[in-house]
Amino acid sequence: MSEILLSQLAHVELLSPKPEETVAWMKDVLGLQETTREGQSVYMRGWAEWLHSSFIVTEANEPGLGRIGWRTYGPGDPDTVAKRLIDTEEHVGWIDSWTGHGRTYQYRSAFGRHLNEVFWDVDLYEAPEELKDHAVPNRPQKMPLNGGGAARYLDHVTMPTGNMRGDIEFYKKLGARHTAQTEVEPGFSVFSTLTCNAIRSTHDVALVPDFSGMTGRGHHIAFRVDQRVDVERMAEAAVSHGTPIELGPGVHGIDEITYLYFREPGGFRMEVNSGGWVNTMPDWETKTYHAAGGNPGQSIYRNVEIPESFIHDSFPAPPKEAAELEQAAMNEEAAAEFFHQKPAALR
Ligand SMILES: [Fe+2]
Repeated sequence: MSEILLSQLAHVELLSPKPEETVAWMKDVLGLQETTREGQSVYMRGWAEWLHSSFIVTEANEPGLGRIGWRTYGPGDPDTVAKRLIDTEEHVGWIDSWTGHGRTYQYRSAFGRHLNEVFWDVDLYEAPEELKDHAVPNRPQKMPLNGGGAARYLDHVTMPTGNMRGDIEFYKKLGARHTAQTEVEPGFSVFSTLTCNAIRSTHDVALVPDFSGMTGRGHHIAFRVDQRVDVERMAEAAVSHGTPIELGPGVHGIDEITYLYFREPGGFRMEVNSGGWVNTMPDWETKTYHAAGGNPGQSIYRNVEIPESFIHDSFPAPPKEAAELEQAAMNEEAAAEFFHQKPAALR
């Protein structure tokens, strides 16, 4: 019998030391819509998203990742996830309700220790009458006037982990498929993509290595726009309004998505993307890309030098000792040893 527990990546929480500037940037550059404010958090969504919110900006001392939220396929599925994890170190506990969703089970990933949560009951966004699009009822609201460059929905989150193979096994335990990876040598993976279903792109989670010894960090959060040309348009708008571009626009081989990476005012890396192919194969075997000779997984054109900052910077930045540990681990031998770790038994 086949089993799909999770239906979609429903929300990601971004921690920001400059929440007001972050929220303004998300509106002005990404075109996100604000749903509500509660406490130190601002709840936002892409214009075509039906859920109450897909993005939560919460004030914090440093940029980083907060909660990673998943909606399940059915009402009993959060209990199934809980049963699978309750006797493990990944178990966190139940919450009766939260802004935007109902009863929620929280857990941490096995090695990255990212705080995940699953729920079935959700609040929907209700547009004011003047924003409703009665002519196109599959849209929760009218396309904004700046819609050509407006982020439509949350796409994926990329997270560093101290044990990539171990966390891949952890996510597979909840039904994810490991769709692709980049290796610098056999067994030495520096990037992996996973998806909980086959409806959208080929990944809703990506993993990158974390040599710092820290846990729970973030690398980037991605939103999707309608057209590839919208990515280019957003790139132009960003630079002309003082946001430097870190990487792109370009086309990844993995996913075949057109990408753009830049930093929001709080310092966190954001991605905007479009295009790509739909992987409907439940028995898909992980495809391996090779970093040598111009990595086609990273750029389908094979002519792009990935900036050092993109490889090394995750958030929050490590304190001095962890930074030294990370630097030491970057020598080839130590890195190879790191990546040849066996996928440790799930505890
Ligand atoms: Fe990405």
